[in-house]
Amino acid sequence: MPLVDNDRDAHWKTKTPASNLAGELDSLSRRLETLFSDARRDCSHDPSVCVGEFVAFDDATPAPVSTNPHANSQGLTVALTPRKRFTDLILARVTRQACEELVEEQRQAERLREHGLLPRHRVLLHGVPGTGKTTLAEAFATELGLPFCKVLYHRVIGEQLADTIARLWRVFDAVRQFPCVLFFDEFETLAKERGDRSDETGLQRAVSTLLTQIDDVPWSVVLIAATNHLELMDSAAWRRFQLRLDLPKPSFEHVCEWLTRLGADLPLPARYAPERLAEHLCNPSWGELEEFTMGVRRRYVLAGTEARVEDILEERLQQYNTRFVSAY
Ligand SMILES: Nc1ncnc2c1ncn2[C@@H]1O[C@H](COP(=O)(O)OP(=O)(O)OP(=O)(O)O)[C@@H](O)[C@H]1O
Ligand SMILES: [Mg+2]
Repeated sequence: MPLVDNDRDAHWKTKTPASNLAGELDSLSRRLETLFSDARRDCSHDPSVCVGEFVAFDDATPAPVSTNPHANSQGLTVALTPRKRFTDLILARVTRQACEELVEEQRQAERLREHGLLPRHRVLLHGVPGTGKTTLAEAFATELGLPFCKVLYHRVIGEQLADTIARLWRVFDAVRQFPCVLFFDEFETLAKERGDRSDETGLQRAVSTLLTQIDDVPWSVVLIAATNHLELMDSAAWRRFQLRLDLPKPSFEHVCEWLTRLGADLPLPARYAPERLAEHLCNPSWGELEEFTMGVRRRYVLAGTEARVEDILEERLQQYNTRFVSAY
């Protein structure tokens, strides 16, 4: 499968050099991006349509939801305000570069169009559960300063295929008028392999409709689909995506980087220095890693002045190693 290659193995146990210059450039580029995003948002949207209704978005503070009737396509999608940026995520170099390039193309769309080119806007993310597909899709929305519109399958998929097809039309019709990141999670649910094309079943018609719609999405709508099951997806569907990223579990080096962040907030004993702690966490996904470190942080806070980090880590590792593990 021609997914963008990830340099996970090459990075295993190697160090990434950090420089102050890189940090300064990063901070400058973030400021410019914020200015750009604000300008873009102001131009693209009618501010009167955003109201302060809230739903839980992550475990930080709740995020505002746009109730714009176009944005939420009559209840078939929900528009959330994303917070994570690319710089909040630990990504393989090639993955980060590929993501930044797409964002740059979107920002420089006018320049590209002057030369008869269009920015890419269809992204397929593949990876086992907890490898950051949803988080990366959200980060795209943050970087682009666009609402993050998630398709709600429980509303879109009806008992009758005709209903599902009609609702998909509504989703695409709505977002066509509204620049956003349109996110399809578990995309294989909709874009199932059609099998024998000579037998035109309802499923085939539904997938054909979906493909036509994907082709017609304007470049100002960034369509991001995520799947754990590439093998179930219709091959004509995944070929539509201009950027296809395989998101692996974090490399050993990335696990160390993550644990170093933990070490910045609480005193890790030498026995559980990041590299040594990483060796205890056998091949975690980002989700598992995050859950482990959140667990440590929670116990540390609740233990108060009695907190012994070494004991907490030992206990959390015990629980981590006896956790239920999926087939992945
Ligand atoms: N590259 C990353 N760097 C740091 N943290 C990450 C990264 N990717 C994901 N995470 C964290 O890991 C957790 C799981 O990520 P996420 O829910 O996006 O995975 P997913 O691939 O969408 O999983 P699923 O297939 O189960 O939907 C998130 O809470 C996120 O904060
Ligand atoms: Mg997800």
